[in-house]
Amino acid sequence: GQRQTVVSEPEELDESAVFVGKEEDFKVCKRLRTTVNDREVVIFHHLGKYHALDLRCYHAGGPLHLGEIEDINGQACIICPWHKYKIVLETGEGLYQGVNPQDPRRTKTWFSKGKKQRTHKVTVKDGSIYVTLSDVNVELDSDFFAKEKFNDEACPD
Ligand code: FES
Repeated sequence: GQRQTVVSEPEELDESAVFVGKEEDFKVCKRLRTTVNDREVVIFHHLGKYHALDLRCYHAGGPLHLGEIEDINGQACIICPWHKYKIVLETGEGLYQGVNPQDPRRTKTWFSKGKKQRTHKVTVKDGSIYVTLSDVNVELDSDFFAKEKFNDEACPD
């Protein structure tokens, strides 16, 4: 019979994908701060996966690239360094801890506030990383801070 060579399809790049760096740029720091079409974006490389989000926290514009990543209920979250808001890397959901009033034992559990932080698409091609900004027609809380200028050292309160 005929021999078949299997060639893996290279990942297709969107027309609006913007080159932000190489995979090796993530070896040391595992995160990259960048600007895509005037928008501040942070890309995290966590457990083998890339996640791009608006860099400015949806709460008050805190610098998410300076936050720690924590596992909350099996979801990797970035913890904003300013007021410790928790944002799911994969979805941009804001999480909060609360008590279900129906629960007689008053145990705290995590709840989602829904998607608050804009996430963006990451494409890896030939060792290069590209970001495609997500559709801004649907408004999200983080949009408000996405184009402001901030001083990373100063927390406003
Ligand atoms: Fe991020 Fe307040 S600015 S928690």
